[in-house]
Amino acid sequence: MAARVDERKRAVGFAAVDRYVRDRTCIGLGTGSTAYWAIERVGERVAAGERIVAVATSRETERLCRERSIPLVELMDEEIAVALDGADEVAADLALIKGGGGALFREKAVALAARLFVVIVTEEKLVQRVGNYPLPVEVVPFSATYVTREIEAIAPVSVSRRGGATPFVTDNANWILDCRFGPIDDPAHLDELLRAIHGVVTSGLFVDLADEVLVAGPNGVRSL
Ligand code: A5P
Repeated sequence: MAARVDERKRAVGFAAVDRYVRDRTCIGLGTGSTAYWAIERVGERVAAGERIVAVATSRETERLCRERSIPLVELMDEEIAVALDGADEVAADLALIKGGGGALFREKAVALAARLFVVIVTEEKLVQRVGNYPLPVEVVPFSATYVTREIEAIAPVSVSRRGGATPFVTDNANWILDCRFGPIDDPAHLDELLRAIHGVVTSGLFVDLADEVLVAGPNGVRSL
């Protein structure tokens, strides 16, 4: 079973690079086990002589790019023609939950800056409404308890600090609160409410950001 899922991730990662990445462009590279395969394919094309540079969405992606000799640039050094990234949930209206790997802040920064944002997933990630997957919210550690109280005032929700007593620390030296809202009726509104809380850096709700979603299933890769 695990091998089959990995094969689908490889297929969708490779397909996204082959469809959307052009020689002599700057691209955004996501984080996670699906984005891994896009990085792998970009590495192959760089090794073959293409001049592709990348903005990495995490330290882990930076490391993978360096291993494959993919040149890295900073956000806004060059226009990002396309950003490729995975997701934890994709709704019918293309609202996403991201951040299962904790890289949500940089992932959203890159998605916002890119001309085109292409999401790559296996079909298990497709849902009618986002929210069953625990929504990651990145918070400044000093304010974590205050933010927890304020989130609990928005809706009946269980909020837990990722890592518990040994908090997971993001690339930006912040913490993650995982919030179990259940299916979310209005993700754009919830994202606004969360980001208005002092101490919230960003939420894993990506609304009106995805331009294309490529989905890998048993019969190959298709656009949503
Ligand atoms: C990283 O923080 C996440 O946003 C990932 O993009 C997301 O969790 C998808 O990861 P997988 O492709 O490993 O499921």
